[in-house]
Amino acid sequence: MYEISTKELLLWIRDIKNSRKDIDDLYLLLDLIGGISKSDLFLLKINSKEKVSSKIDFNLIKKKWIEHTQLSKPIQYICGGSYWRNFKFELTTDVLIPRVETEQIVEIATDIIGQKVKKIIFADLGTGSGTIAISLVEKNKNWEGLATDIDKNALHIAQNNHRKISPNSKINFYCGSWWEPLINYAGMINLVISNPPYIPRNTYEKLPSSVKDFEPKKALYGGEDGLFHIKKIISDAPNYLVKGGWLILENHFDQSKKIKNLLREYGFDSFKTINDTFGIGRFTIGRYK
Ligand SMILES: C[S@@+](CC[C@H](N)C(=O)[O-])C[C@H]1O[C@@H](n2cnc3c(N)ncnc32)[C@H](O)[C@@H]1O
Repeated sequence: MYEISTKELLLWIRDIKNSRKDIDDLYLLLDLIGGISKSDLFLLKINSKEKVSSKIDFNLIKKKWIEHTQLSKPIQYICGGSYWRNFKFELTTDVLIPRVETEQIVEIATDIIGQKVKKIIFADLGTGSGTIAISLVEKNKNWEGLATDIDKNALHIAQNNHRKISPNSKINFYCGSWWEPLINYAGMINLVISNPPYIPRNTYEKLPSSVKDFEPKKALYGGEDGLFHIKKIISDAPNYLVKGGWLILENHFDQSKKIKNLLREYGFDSFKTINDTFGIGRFTIGRYK
């Protein structure tokens, strides 16, 4: 452990606060690499100690902050991790930084199936760092997960996270495109969840450099209209879902209506758009008839 002068740390934070609107990234950096949480900092102000303990040297913290501000590199990649729901996930630039909006998908899935159901098989297509699949098996102890991704490095991160966060739960990981690696589960899957790449070309081109230059294009870009991967997932779903099985997709703010039309075309009913916490129609669900 290292010791940092409380006065020096608080002055450094104050200077940064004066030059930026939002310092959430700074709090995340201090927490993830220094082990100094926001509540530790708050307590310091009311019960000041001379020194604060940190997991790394203060100069190294400052250096990482400069790397973040000068290169616009996301703090989560600098620190190699982040929080999502109530867990800390390992992250690298091979995976998307899991977004807060997506957290709700775990409640949507749990509510649709109901927690009393004995055992179900669900698939998380495009698992990335594994956040959705891991959170689902942690919340629903008798669910079994199948998690796929096209990127083998992403799958490696997801498997590490599974081992660390939920070692006793059952998730099998497969590398391949969408449903392809799940051929042995044809007609057996009760629920499929996916947060696929859905950003249309125009929007992708205008993304801030902190996203476009660091996060994997294959995790974000959904083709000209953003629906390229979504069409693939929906059109193959009838081969893999049981009758009455559910599909939950995360989508761009304006895609839900088109997704419902696709679902109708491929034999689904009970469509619904669910708003995220910011009031945007972020999730579309349907049931295979
Ligand atoms: C938007 S990210 C979602 C990651 C994670 N599920 C989350 O919510 O944070 C989309 C994921 O889909 C994966 N992906 C892209 N194309 C794919 C394909 N053809 N088959 C399977 N996965 C794919 C990407 O590698 C990426 O991990």
